[in-house]
Amino acid sequence: MRDALGACNTVERVTARHSALPAASAEARVDADAEWWRSAVIYQVYPRSFADASGDGIGDLRGITRRLEHLADLGVDAIWLSPFYRSPQRDAGYDVADYCDVDPVFGDLADFDTLETRAHELGLRVIVDLVPNHSSTDHRWFQEALGSPAGSEERARYIFRDGRGDEGELPPNNWQSIFGGPAWTRTTDADGAPGQWYLHLFDATQADLDWSNPWVRERFVDILRFWLDRGVDGFRVDVAHGLVKQEGLPDYTPPEGSGSMGGGAFDDDITAAAPLPPYFAQDGVHDIYREWRRVLDEYDGHRMLVAEAWVEPLGRLAEWVRPDEMHQAFNFPYLETKWHAEGIREVVDSSLAIFGSVGAPSTWVLSNHDVVRHATRLALTAENPQGHGIGPSSPGQPVPELGLQRARAATALMLALPGSAYLYQGEELGLPEVVDLPDDEREDPTWFRTGGERYGRDGCRVPIPWEGFAPALGFSPTGESWLPQPAEWTAFARDAQSGVPGSTLELYRAALALRSEHALGLGTVEWIPGLGTDVVALQNRGVTVLANAGDAGVELLDGEVLLASGPVDDGVLPPDTTVWMRAD
Ligand code: NOJ
Repeated sequence: MRDALGACNTVERVTARHSALPAASAEARVDADAEWWRSAVIYQVYPRSFADASGDGIGDLRGITRRLEHLADLGVDAIWLSPFYRSPQRDAGYDVADYCDVDPVFGDLADFDTLETRAHELGLRVIVDLVPNHSSTDHRWFQEALGSPAGSEERARYIFRDGRGDEGELPPNNWQSIFGGPAWTRTTDADGAPGQWYLHLFDATQADLDWSNPWVRERFVDILRFWLDRGVDGFRVDVAHGLVKQEGLPDYTPPEGSGSMGGGAFDDDITAAAPLPPYFAQDGVHDIYREWRRVLDEYDGHRMLVAEAWVEPLGRLAEWVRPDEMHQAFNFPYLETKWHAEGIREVVDSSLAIFGSVGAPSTWVLSNHDVVRHATRLALTAENPQGHGIGPSSPGQPVPELGLQRARAATALMLALPGSAYLYQGEELGLPEVVDLPDDEREDPTWFRTGGERYGRDGCRVPIPWEGFAPALGFSPTGESWLPQPAEWTAFARDAQSGVPGSTLELYRAALALRSEHALGLGTVEWIPGLGTDVVALQNRGVTVLANAGDAGVELLDGEVLLASGPVDDGVLPPDTTVWMRAD
Protein backbone atom coordinates (compact mmCIF):
# COMPACT_ATOMS: atom_id res chain seq x y z
CA MET A 1 0.00 0.00 0.00
CA ARG A 2 1.29 3.45 -0.87
CA ASP A 3 0.10 6.90 0.06
CA ALA A 4 -0.61 9.61 -2.47
CA LEU A 5 3.04 10.65 -2.49
CA GLY A 6 4.32 7.24 -3.44
CA ALA A 7 6.05 6.89 -0.10
CA CYS A 8 5.65 4.17 2.46
CA ASN A 9 2.23 3.86 3.89
CA THR A 10 1.86 4.59 7.55
CA VAL A 11 -1.36 2.60 7.99
CA GLU A 12 0.60 -0.59 7.48
CA ARG A 13 2.84 0.56 10.30
CA VAL A 14 0.14 0.30 12.92
CA THR A 15 -0.44 -3.36 12.25
CA ALA A 16 3.18 -4.27 11.72
CA ARG A 17 5.38 -6.08 14.15
CA HIS A 18 7.36 -3.89 16.47
CA SER A 19 10.25 -5.86 17.77
CA ALA A 20 13.56 -6.71 16.21
CA LEU A 21 15.35 -9.83 17.48
CA PRO A 22 12.98 -11.12 20.21
CA ALA A 23 14.52 -10.81 23.65
CA ALA A 24 13.04 -14.17 24.65
CA SER A 25 14.29 -16.14 21.62
CA ALA A 26 15.80 -19.31 23.00
CA GLU A 27 18.27 -19.53 20.15
CA ALA A 28 19.40 -15.94 20.34
CA ARG A 29 23.12 -15.91 20.87
CA VAL A 30 23.17 -12.28 21.87
CA ASP A 31 21.81 -10.38 24.81
CA ALA A 32 18.97 -8.33 23.41
CA ASP A 33 19.75 -5.52 25.84
CA ALA A 34 23.36 -5.15 24.82
CA GLU A 35 24.62 -2.80 22.15
CA TRP A 36 25.16 -5.87 20.01
CA TRP A 37 26.54 -3.93 17.06
CA ARG A 38 29.66 -2.91 18.99
CA SER A 39 31.27 -6.31 18.50
CA ALA A 40 29.08 -8.01 15.89
CA VAL A 41 30.32 -9.94 12.89
CA ILE A 42 28.01 -8.97 10.07
CA TYR A 43 27.74 -11.05 6.90
CA GLN A 44 26.84 -9.24 3.68
CA VAL A 45 24.32 -11.09 1.53
CA TYR A 46 24.23 -9.86 -2.05
CA PRO A 47 20.77 -11.16 -2.96
CA ARG A 48 21.32 -11.51 -6.72
CA SER A 49 24.18 -13.91 -6.14
CA PHE A 50 23.50 -15.78 -2.90
CA ALA A 51 20.86 -18.44 -3.65
CA ASP A 52 18.15 -18.69 -6.28
CA ALA A 53 14.98 -20.55 -5.30
CA SER A 54 12.89 -19.60 -8.34
CA GLY A 55 15.36 -20.97 -10.87
CA ASP A 56 15.57 -17.85 -13.04
CA GLY A 57 19.30 -17.50 -12.43
CA ILE A 58 19.00 -14.48 -10.10
CA GLY A 59 19.13 -15.03 -6.35
CA ASP A 60 16.02 -14.27 -4.31
CA LEU A 61 14.68 -13.92 -0.77
CA ARG A 62 13.32 -17.47 -0.57
CA GLY A 63 16.72 -18.72 -1.63
CA ILE A 64 18.33 -16.76 1.18
CA THR A 65 15.86 -18.06 3.77
CA ARG A 66 16.58 -21.66 2.77
CA ARG A 67 20.29 -21.15 3.26
CA LEU A 68 20.19 -19.09 6.46
CA GLU A 69 21.11 -22.02 8.67
CA HIS A 70 24.51 -22.10 7.01
CA LEU A 71 25.16 -18.57 8.19
CA ALA A 72 24.04 -19.30 11.73
CA ASP A 73 26.29 -22.33 11.63
CA LEU A 74 29.19 -20.21 10.36
CA GLY A 75 28.86 -18.18 13.55
CA VAL A 76 28.02 -14.66 12.37
CA ASP A 77 25.76 -12.38 14.40
CA ALA A 78 23.87 -10.54 11.69
CA ILE A 79 23.24 -10.33 7.98
CA TRP A 80 23.19 -7.21 5.86
CA LEU A 81 21.06 -7.55 2.75
CA SER A 82 22.05 -5.48 -0.26
CA PRO A 83 18.96 -3.95 -1.96
CA PHE A 84 16.02 -6.19 -2.86
CA TYR A 85 13.55 -3.34 -3.48
CA ARG A 86 11.61 -2.68 -6.67
CA SER A 87 14.16 -1.63 -9.21
CA PRO A 88 14.91 -1.86 -12.92
CA GLN A 89 18.29 -3.32 -11.80
CA ARG A 90 20.42 -0.93 -13.81
CA ASP A 91 22.83 -0.80 -10.88
CA ALA A 92 21.96 -4.20 -9.41
CA GLY A 93 19.24 -2.75 -7.18
CA TYR A 94 21.03 0.42 -6.01
CA ASP A 95 18.57 2.14 -8.34
CA VAL A 96 15.41 1.94 -6.27
CA ALA A 97 12.00 2.48 -7.87
CA ASP A 98 9.99 1.79 -4.70
CA TYR A 99 11.64 1.83 -1.29
CA CYS A 100 8.82 -0.05 0.42
CA ASP A 101 8.30 -3.03 -1.80
CA VAL A 102 10.26 -6.06 -2.91
CA ASP A 103 11.17 -6.44 -6.56
CA PRO A 104 9.34 -9.44 -8.08
CA VAL A 105 12.71 -10.81 -9.13
CA PHE A 106 13.49 -11.25 -5.41
CA GLY A 107 9.99 -12.17 -4.20
CA ASP A 108 7.52 -10.09 -2.20
CA LEU A 109 7.04 -8.54 1.22
CA ALA A 110 5.74 -11.81 2.64
CA ASP A 111 9.01 -13.47 1.57
CA PHE A 112 10.88 -10.71 3.35
CA ASP A 113 8.87 -11.27 6.54
CA THR A 114 9.55 -15.00 6.37
CA LEU A 115 13.25 -14.37 5.90
CA GLU A 116 13.39 -11.97 8.81
CA THR A 117 11.44 -14.27 11.12
CA ARG A 118 13.68 -17.21 10.30
CA ALA A 119 16.81 -15.12 10.77
CA HIS A 120 15.61 -13.99 14.17
CA GLU A 121 14.76 -17.56 15.16
CA LEU A 122 18.33 -18.46 14.32
CA GLY A 123 19.67 -15.56 16.40
CA LEU A 124 20.71 -13.53 13.37
CA ARG A 125 19.96 -9.80 13.21
CA VAL A 126 18.85 -8.35 9.90
CA ILE A 127 20.22 -5.11 8.44
CA VAL A 128 18.75 -3.74 5.22
CA ASP A 129 20.26 -1.36 2.72
CA LEU A 130 18.90 2.15 2.40
CA VAL A 131 19.72 4.16 -0.74
CA PRO A 132 18.91 7.81 0.00
CA ASN A 133 21.30 9.71 -2.29
CA HIS A 134 19.42 8.84 -5.45
CA SER A 135 16.40 6.95 -6.71
CA SER A 136 15.84 5.16 -9.96
CA THR A 137 14.58 7.41 -12.72
CA ASP A 138 11.73 4.85 -12.88
CA HIS A 139 10.61 5.96 -9.41
CA ARG A 140 7.23 7.60 -9.44
CA TRP A 141 8.77 10.68 -7.77
CA PHE A 142 11.10 11.18 -10.72
CA GLN A 143 8.52 10.39 -13.36
CA GLU A 144 6.23 13.01 -11.80
CA ALA A 145 9.11 15.47 -11.79
CA LEU A 146 9.80 14.85 -15.46
CA GLY A 147 6.14 15.41 -16.27
CA SER A 148 6.08 18.73 -14.36
CA PRO A 149 7.46 22.08 -15.44
CA ALA A 150 10.80 23.59 -14.40
CA GLY A 151 10.46 25.22 -11.00
CA SER A 152 7.61 22.91 -9.90
CA GLU A 153 7.37 21.20 -6.51
CA GLU A 154 7.86 17.84 -8.20
CA ARG A 155 11.12 18.93 -9.81
CA ALA A 156 12.34 20.23 -6.43
CA ARG A 157 12.61 16.61 -5.23
CA TYR A 158 15.67 16.17 -7.45
CA ILE A 159 18.52 18.37 -8.64
CA PHE A 160 17.27 19.82 -11.90
CA ARG A 161 19.12 22.81 -13.37
CA ASP A 162 19.18 24.80 -16.57
CA GLY A 163 22.18 24.10 -18.75
CA ARG A 164 25.03 26.49 -19.45
CA GLY A 165 25.63 27.97 -22.90
CA ASP A 166 23.34 30.14 -25.03
CA GLU A 167 20.83 27.36 -25.53
CA GLY A 168 21.41 25.55 -22.25
CA GLU A 169 23.27 22.95 -24.30
CA LEU A 170 26.11 22.50 -21.80
CA PRO A 171 25.75 20.66 -18.49
CA PRO A 172 25.29 22.93 -15.44
CA ASN A 173 28.80 22.10 -14.18
CA ASN A 174 31.75 19.83 -14.95
CA TRP A 175 31.03 17.02 -12.47
CA GLN A 176 31.76 13.51 -13.63
CA SER A 177 29.82 10.41 -12.63
CA ILE A 178 31.58 7.96 -10.30
CA PHE A 179 30.86 5.33 -12.95
CA GLY A 180 32.42 7.46 -15.71
CA GLY A 181 31.05 10.07 -18.11
CA PRO A 182 29.19 13.27 -17.22
CA ALA A 183 27.12 13.48 -14.02
CA TRP A 184 24.29 15.33 -15.81
CA THR A 185 21.70 14.21 -18.34
CA ARG A 186 19.49 16.54 -20.31
CA THR A 187 15.75 16.00 -20.33
CA THR A 188 13.33 16.49 -23.17
CA ASP A 189 10.24 18.64 -22.62
CA ALA A 190 6.73 17.51 -23.51
CA ASP A 191 6.90 19.42 -26.81
CA GLY A 192 10.08 17.59 -27.80
CA ALA A 193 12.39 20.55 -27.12
CA PRO A 194 15.56 19.98 -25.06
CA GLY A 195 14.86 20.78 -21.42
CA GLN A 196 16.62 21.01 -18.07
CA TRP A 197 19.43 18.76 -16.86
CA TYR A 198 19.32 16.49 -13.80
CA LEU A 199 22.23 15.40 -11.63
CA HIS A 200 23.26 11.77 -11.21
CA LEU A 201 26.51 11.08 -9.38
CA PHE A 202 26.20 7.48 -10.53
CA ASP A 203 24.36 6.03 -13.54
CA ALA A 204 22.04 8.24 -15.62
CA THR A 205 19.19 6.07 -14.29
CA GLN A 206 20.06 7.07 -10.69
CA ALA A 207 18.88 10.65 -10.16
CA ASP A 208 20.21 12.48 -7.10
CA LEU A 209 17.52 13.58 -4.68
CA ASP A 210 17.62 17.12 -3.31
CA TRP A 211 18.14 16.77 0.42
CA SER A 212 17.72 20.48 1.06
CA ASN A 213 14.03 19.84 0.40
CA PRO A 214 12.11 18.95 3.61
CA TRP A 215 9.73 16.81 1.52
CA VAL A 216 12.58 14.43 0.72
CA ARG A 217 13.59 14.26 4.37
CA GLU A 218 10.05 13.41 5.43
CA ARG A 219 9.74 10.64 2.85
CA PHE A 220 12.86 8.94 4.14
CA VAL A 221 11.69 9.08 7.74
CA ASP A 222 8.56 7.27 6.50
CA ILE A 223 10.77 4.70 4.81
CA LEU A 224 12.86 4.16 7.94
CA ARG A 225 9.72 3.61 9.98
CA PHE A 226 8.26 1.23 7.43
CA TRP A 227 11.21 -1.14 7.80
CA LEU A 228 11.72 -0.56 11.53
CA ASP A 229 8.10 -1.49 12.07
CA ARG A 230 8.69 -4.64 10.07
CA GLY A 231 11.34 -5.51 12.62
CA VAL A 232 14.66 -4.84 10.90
CA ASP A 233 17.63 -4.39 13.20
CA GLY A 234 19.36 -1.69 11.24
CA PHE A 235 20.25 0.03 8.01
CA ARG A 236 23.37 0.16 5.92
CA VAL A 237 23.23 3.66 4.43
CA ASP A 238 24.42 3.88 0.84
CA VAL A 239 26.63 6.84 -0.15
CA ALA A 240 26.17 8.27 3.33
CA HIS A 241 28.66 11.03 2.49
CA GLY A 242 26.83 12.22 -0.61
CA LEU A 243 23.36 13.47 0.22
CA VAL A 244 24.16 17.16 0.59
CA LYS A 245 25.83 19.12 -2.19
CA GLN A 246 27.76 22.37 -1.84
CA GLU A 247 25.69 25.51 -2.40
CA GLY A 248 26.02 26.70 -6.00
CA LEU A 249 27.30 23.32 -7.27
CA PRO A 250 30.78 24.65 -8.15
CA ASP A 251 32.97 22.96 -10.76
CA TYR A 252 35.35 20.32 -9.40
CA THR A 253 38.05 18.14 -10.91
CA PRO A 254 38.99 15.04 -8.87
CA PRO A 255 42.64 14.18 -8.38
CA GLU A 256 44.47 12.08 -10.95
CA GLY A 257 44.04 8.31 -10.61
CA SER A 258 40.77 8.54 -8.74
CA GLY A 259 37.79 6.30 -9.23
CA SER A 260 36.76 5.52 -5.75
CA MET A 261 33.34 6.09 -4.24
CA GLY A 262 35.00 8.96 -2.40
CA GLY A 263 35.35 10.81 -5.65
CA GLY A 264 39.06 11.01 -5.09
CA ALA A 265 42.03 8.73 -4.67
CA PHE A 266 42.53 7.29 -1.20
CA ASP A 267 45.84 8.43 0.15
CA ASP A 268 48.43 5.98 1.46
CA ASP A 269 48.71 8.30 4.42
CA ILE A 270 45.41 7.55 6.10
CA THR A 271 45.69 10.61 8.32
CA ALA A 272 46.19 13.07 5.44
CA ALA A 273 43.24 15.27 4.54
CA ALA A 274 42.17 14.95 0.91
CA PRO A 275 40.51 17.82 -0.92
CA LEU A 276 36.78 17.78 -0.32
CA PRO A 277 34.62 17.28 -3.44
CA PRO A 278 31.62 19.65 -3.45
CA TYR A 279 29.31 16.64 -3.61
CA PHE A 280 30.74 14.58 -0.76
CA ALA A 281 31.26 14.96 2.99
CA GLN A 282 29.42 18.26 3.27
CA ASP A 283 28.57 19.35 6.81
CA GLY A 284 24.82 19.29 6.19
CA VAL A 285 24.64 15.48 6.05
CA HIS A 286 25.05 15.24 9.80
CA ASP A 287 21.72 16.86 10.61
CA ILE A 288 20.02 14.19 8.54
CA TYR A 289 21.63 11.39 10.53
CA ARG A 290 20.85 13.09 13.82
CA GLU A 291 17.20 13.08 12.83
CA TRP A 292 17.36 9.41 11.80
CA ARG A 293 19.10 8.50 15.05
CA ARG A 294 16.25 10.04 17.01
CA VAL A 295 13.82 7.91 14.99
CA LEU A 296 15.79 4.71 15.64
CA ASP A 297 16.08 5.50 19.33
CA GLU A 298 12.29 5.41 19.60
CA TYR A 299 12.44 1.67 18.88
CA ASP A 300 13.42 -1.20 21.13
CA GLY A 301 16.18 -3.68 20.42
CA HIS A 302 19.13 -1.38 19.66
CA ARG A 303 18.48 -0.77 15.97
CA MET A 304 21.56 0.55 14.21
CA LEU A 305 22.84 2.64 11.30
CA VAL A 306 26.09 1.94 9.48
CA ALA A 307 27.50 4.48 7.06
CA GLU A 308 28.89 3.60 3.68
CA ALA A 309 30.98 6.75 3.55
CA TRP A 310 34.13 6.76 1.45
CA VAL A 311 35.63 9.57 3.45
CA GLU A 312 39.20 10.18 4.47
CA PRO A 313 41.02 10.80 6.66
CA LEU A 314 39.63 8.60 9.42
CA GLY A 315 39.29 11.64 11.65
CA ARG A 316 36.72 13.05 9.27
CA LEU A 317 34.91 9.72 8.98
CA ALA A 318 34.52 9.67 12.77
CA GLU A 319 32.11 12.59 12.40
CA TRP A 320 29.55 10.09 11.04
CA VAL A 321 29.59 8.09 14.28
CA ARG A 322 29.38 10.78 16.92
CA PRO A 323 27.09 9.71 19.78
CA ASP A 324 23.97 11.28 18.28
CA GLU A 325 24.59 10.12 14.68
CA MET A 326 25.22 6.69 13.24
CA HIS A 327 26.45 3.70 15.22
CA GLN A 328 29.13 2.51 12.83
CA ALA A 329 30.89 3.46 9.61
CA PHE A 330 32.67 1.08 7.25
CA ASN A 331 36.40 1.39 7.70
CA PHE A 332 37.49 1.71 4.08
CA PRO A 333 40.98 2.97 4.97
CA TYR A 334 41.44 -0.48 6.59
CA LEU A 335 40.17 -2.25 3.47
CA GLU A 336 42.50 -0.17 1.32
CA THR A 337 45.57 -0.96 3.43
CA LYS A 338 48.03 -3.21 1.66
CA TRP A 339 49.34 -6.45 3.15
CA HIS A 340 52.14 -4.66 4.90
CA ALA A 341 52.78 -4.87 8.64
CA GLU A 342 53.61 -1.23 9.29
CA GLY A 343 50.57 0.03 7.39
CA ILE A 344 48.32 -2.44 9.19
CA ARG A 345 49.59 -1.46 12.64
CA GLU A 346 49.09 2.18 11.78
CA VAL A 347 45.53 1.81 10.49
CA VAL A 348 44.53 -0.38 13.46
CA ASP A 349 45.97 2.14 15.91
CA SER A 350 44.38 5.12 14.18
CA SER A 351 41.02 3.38 13.84
CA LEU A 352 40.80 2.40 17.49
CA ALA A 353 41.91 5.83 18.65
CA ILE A 354 39.80 7.88 16.27
CA PHE A 355 36.53 5.92 16.47
CA GLY A 356 37.13 5.48 20.19
CA SER A 357 37.46 9.24 20.64
CA VAL A 358 33.77 9.60 19.75
CA GLY A 359 32.68 6.49 21.65
CA ALA A 360 32.13 4.36 18.55
CA PRO A 361 33.51 0.88 17.89
CA SER A 362 35.88 0.52 14.98
CA THR A 363 34.71 -1.63 12.12
CA TRP A 364 36.86 -3.84 9.92
CA VAL A 365 36.18 -4.99 6.40
CA LEU A 366 38.22 -6.60 3.64
CA SER A 367 35.70 -7.32 0.87
CA ASN A 368 32.31 -6.22 -0.40
CA HIS A 369 30.35 -6.05 -3.66
CA ASP A 370 32.23 -2.93 -4.85
CA VAL A 371 35.85 -4.02 -4.52
CA VAL A 372 38.11 -6.71 -5.92
CA ARG A 373 37.78 -9.71 -3.58
CA HIS A 374 40.62 -9.68 -1.06
CA ALA A 375 41.71 -13.22 -2.03
CA THR A 376 42.78 -11.56 -5.29
CA ARG A 377 43.45 -7.97 -4.28
CA LEU A 378 46.07 -8.70 -1.63
CA ALA A 379 48.46 -10.20 -4.18
CA LEU A 380 47.98 -7.77 -7.06
CA THR A 381 51.17 -6.41 -8.50
CA ALA A 382 49.75 -3.20 -9.99
CA GLU A 383 47.69 -0.35 -8.56
CA ASN A 384 43.97 -0.97 -8.88
CA PRO A 385 41.74 1.93 -7.82
CA GLN A 386 38.39 0.97 -6.30
CA GLY A 387 35.74 0.44 -8.94
CA HIS A 388 38.14 -0.20 -11.81
CA GLY A 389 37.98 -3.97 -11.35
CA ILE A 390 40.19 -6.53 -13.02
CA GLY A 391 39.85 -8.13 -16.42
CA PRO A 392 41.95 -10.14 -18.82
CA SER A 393 43.93 -7.13 -20.01
CA SER A 394 44.48 -5.41 -16.66
CA PRO A 395 48.08 -4.80 -15.65
CA GLY A 396 49.35 -6.89 -12.75
CA GLN A 397 47.36 -10.09 -13.13
CA PRO A 398 46.46 -11.93 -9.89
CA VAL A 399 48.62 -14.59 -8.27
CA PRO A 400 45.89 -16.94 -6.97
CA GLU A 401 47.72 -19.12 -4.41
CA LEU A 402 49.51 -16.19 -2.83
CA GLY A 403 46.28 -14.17 -2.81
CA LEU A 404 44.37 -16.89 -0.97
CA GLN A 405 47.16 -17.42 1.53
CA ARG A 406 47.28 -13.70 2.30
CA ALA A 407 43.51 -13.44 2.41
CA ARG A 408 43.30 -16.18 5.01
CA ALA A 409 46.03 -14.52 7.06
CA ALA A 410 44.39 -11.11 6.73
CA THR A 411 40.99 -12.44 7.78
CA ALA A 412 42.45 -14.26 10.77
CA LEU A 413 44.03 -10.99 11.83
CA MET A 414 40.85 -8.98 11.24
CA LEU A 415 38.66 -11.34 13.25
CA ALA A 416 40.97 -10.97 16.24
CA LEU A 417 40.44 -7.21 16.43
CA PRO A 418 38.06 -5.48 18.83
CA GLY A 419 35.04 -3.87 17.23
CA SER A 420 32.68 -5.07 14.55
CA ALA A 421 33.73 -6.99 11.43
CA TYR A 422 32.02 -7.30 8.05
CA LEU A 423 32.28 -10.36 5.83
CA TYR A 424 31.19 -10.52 2.20
CA GLN A 425 29.43 -13.64 0.95
CA GLY A 426 31.83 -16.16 -0.51
CA GLU A 427 34.93 -14.91 1.24
CA GLU A 428 34.47 -17.72 3.78
CA LEU A 429 35.00 -20.04 0.82
CA GLY A 430 38.16 -18.20 -0.25
CA LEU A 431 36.56 -17.12 -3.51
CA PRO A 432 38.80 -15.11 -5.81
CA GLU A 433 37.70 -12.32 -8.13
CA VAL A 434 36.50 -13.70 -11.48
CA VAL A 435 38.83 -12.02 -13.92
CA ASP A 436 37.83 -13.57 -17.24
CA LEU A 437 34.11 -12.83 -17.50
CA PRO A 438 33.16 -12.53 -21.17
CA ASP A 439 32.64 -8.89 -22.15
CA ASP A 440 29.10 -9.54 -23.32
CA GLU A 441 28.12 -10.96 -19.92
CA ARG A 442 29.19 -7.90 -17.94
CA GLU A 443 26.44 -5.85 -16.30
CA ASP A 444 28.14 -3.19 -14.16
CA PRO A 445 27.26 0.29 -15.47
CA THR A 446 30.91 1.23 -14.92
CA TRP A 447 31.86 -1.06 -17.82
CA PHE A 448 29.39 0.61 -20.18
CA ARG A 449 29.93 4.19 -19.04
CA THR A 450 33.70 3.95 -19.52
CA GLY A 451 33.43 2.18 -22.87
CA GLY A 452 35.10 -0.89 -21.38
CA GLU A 453 38.06 1.05 -20.01
CA ARG A 454 37.14 0.00 -16.46
CA TYR A 455 35.96 -3.57 -15.93
CA GLY A 456 33.93 -2.60 -12.88
CA ARG A 457 32.60 -4.83 -10.14
CA ASP A 458 31.02 -7.88 -11.78
CA GLY A 459 34.04 -10.03 -10.93
CA CYS A 460 33.19 -10.00 -7.22
CA ARG A 461 29.46 -10.55 -7.78
CA VAL A 462 29.44 -13.97 -9.43
CA PRO A 463 26.88 -16.32 -7.78
CA ILE A 464 28.49 -18.33 -5.02
CA PRO A 465 29.00 -22.13 -5.06
CA TRP A 466 27.14 -24.29 -2.56
CA GLU A 467 27.43 -27.84 -3.90
CA GLY A 468 30.28 -28.66 -6.26
CA PHE A 469 28.35 -31.07 -8.44
CA ALA A 470 24.87 -29.55 -8.50
CA PRO A 471 23.44 -27.36 -11.28
CA ALA A 472 24.94 -23.86 -11.08
CA LEU A 473 27.04 -25.23 -8.20
CA GLY A 474 23.92 -25.33 -6.03
CA PHE A 475 23.13 -21.64 -6.64
CA SER A 476 20.07 -22.36 -8.80
CA PRO A 477 18.07 -25.57 -9.35
CA THR A 478 17.88 -24.96 -13.10
CA GLY A 479 21.58 -24.34 -13.58
CA GLU A 480 20.93 -20.73 -14.58
CA SER A 481 23.26 -18.03 -13.28
CA TRP A 482 23.09 -14.35 -14.18
CA LEU A 483 26.89 -14.22 -14.33
CA PRO A 484 28.77 -17.37 -15.39
CA GLN A 485 30.49 -19.32 -12.62
CA PRO A 486 34.04 -20.58 -13.26
CA ALA A 487 34.31 -24.37 -13.58
CA GLU A 488 37.11 -24.45 -11.00
CA TRP A 489 34.69 -23.17 -8.35
CA THR A 490 33.67 -26.81 -7.81
CA ALA A 491 36.63 -26.99 -5.47
CA PHE A 492 35.51 -23.85 -3.60
CA ALA A 493 31.96 -25.12 -3.01
CA ARG A 494 30.70 -25.17 0.55
CA ASP A 495 30.15 -28.93 0.52
CA ALA A 496 33.71 -29.48 -0.68
CA GLN A 497 35.05 -27.54 2.32
CA SER A 498 32.62 -28.34 5.09
CA GLY A 499 34.27 -30.50 7.75
CA VAL A 500 37.56 -30.52 5.84
CA PRO A 501 40.41 -29.58 8.19
CA GLY A 502 42.44 -26.69 6.84
CA SER A 503 39.73 -25.50 4.43
CA THR A 504 38.98 -21.79 4.31
CA LEU A 505 35.42 -22.44 5.48
CA GLU A 506 36.65 -24.29 8.57
CA LEU A 507 39.17 -21.53 9.24
CA TYR A 508 36.38 -18.94 9.29
CA ARG A 509 34.18 -21.15 11.44
CA ALA A 510 36.95 -21.74 13.96
CA ALA A 511 37.97 -18.08 14.04
CA LEU A 512 34.38 -16.95 14.62
CA ALA A 513 33.87 -19.50 17.40
CA LEU A 514 37.09 -18.48 19.15
CA ARG A 515 36.34 -14.79 18.66
CA SER A 516 33.03 -15.31 20.39
CA GLU A 517 34.42 -17.56 23.13
CA HIS A 518 37.09 -15.00 24.05
CA ALA A 519 34.80 -12.00 23.38
CA LEU A 520 37.56 -10.50 21.24
CA GLY A 521 35.12 -8.01 19.74
CA LEU A 522 34.92 -6.31 23.13
CA GLY A 523 38.62 -6.43 23.88
CA THR A 524 41.58 -4.14 23.40
CA VAL A 525 44.78 -4.21 21.38
CA GLU A 526 48.12 -4.33 23.13
CA TRP A 527 51.04 -4.42 20.74
CA ILE A 528 53.77 -6.99 21.40
CA PRO A 529 57.22 -5.60 20.66
CA GLY A 530 60.33 -7.48 19.54
CA LEU A 531 59.06 -9.66 16.68
CA GLY A 532 60.47 -7.55 13.88
CA THR A 533 58.90 -4.99 11.61
CA ASP A 534 57.20 -7.54 9.33
CA VAL A 535 55.08 -9.14 12.03
CA VAL A 536 51.85 -7.64 13.32
CA ALA A 537 51.92 -8.88 16.92
CA LEU A 538 49.22 -8.08 19.42
CA GLN A 539 47.39 -9.35 22.42
CA ASN A 540 43.63 -9.15 22.91
CA ARG A 541 41.90 -10.69 25.95
CA GLY A 542 44.44 -13.37 26.58
CA VAL A 543 44.92 -14.26 22.94
CA THR A 544 48.23 -13.55 21.24
CA VAL A 545 47.90 -12.84 17.53
CA LEU A 546 50.87 -12.93 15.18
CA ALA A 547 50.54 -12.12 11.48
CA ASN A 548 53.63 -12.44 9.33
CA ALA A 549 53.37 -10.07 6.37
CA GLY A 550 57.04 -10.40 5.44
CA ASP A 551 58.74 -12.88 3.11
CA ALA A 552 60.76 -14.85 5.67
CA GLY A 553 59.66 -17.20 8.43
CA VAL A 554 59.89 -15.94 12.01
CA GLU A 555 60.32 -17.88 15.22
CA LEU A 556 57.04 -18.50 17.03
CA LEU A 557 56.54 -17.62 20.65
CA ASP A 558 56.03 -20.50 23.08
CA GLY A 559 52.44 -21.45 23.74
CA GLU A 560 49.44 -23.33 22.47
CA VAL A 561 48.35 -22.46 18.93
CA LEU A 562 44.59 -21.92 18.92
CA LEU A 563 44.17 -21.06 15.25
CA ALA A 564 46.46 -20.94 12.22
CA SER A 565 45.62 -19.52 8.82
CA GLY A 566 48.04 -21.95 7.15
CA PRO A 567 50.46 -24.76 8.02
CA VAL A 568 52.81 -23.94 10.90
CA ASP A 569 55.65 -26.38 11.59
CA ASP A 570 58.80 -26.52 13.69
CA GLY A 571 58.03 -23.44 15.73
CA VAL A 572 58.27 -21.17 12.70
CA LEU A 573 55.57 -18.79 11.50
CA PRO A 574 55.80 -18.82 7.69
CA PRO A 575 55.25 -15.71 5.53
CA ASP A 576 51.65 -14.71 4.85
CA THR A 577 50.36 -16.63 7.84
CA THR A 578 48.54 -15.62 11.03
CA VAL A 579 48.29 -17.58 14.27
CA TRP A 580 46.31 -17.08 17.43
CA MET A 581 47.96 -18.44 20.57
CA ARG A 582 46.92 -18.73 24.16
CA ALA A 583 48.86 -15.99 25.93
CA ASP A 584 50.81 -17.20 28.97
C1 NOJ B 1 27.51 2.21 -3.22
C2 NOJ B 1 27.06 0.81 -3.48
O1 NOJ B 1 27.74 -0.05 -2.63
C3 NOJ B 1 27.33 0.55 -4.94
O2 NOJ B 1 27.18 -0.80 -5.28
C4 NOJ B 1 26.42 1.43 -5.76
O3 NOJ B 1 26.73 1.26 -7.12
C5 NOJ B 1 26.63 2.90 -5.39
N1 NOJ B 1 26.69 3.11 -3.97
C6 NOJ B 1 25.50 3.72 -5.92
O4 NOJ B 1 24.33 3.43 -5.21
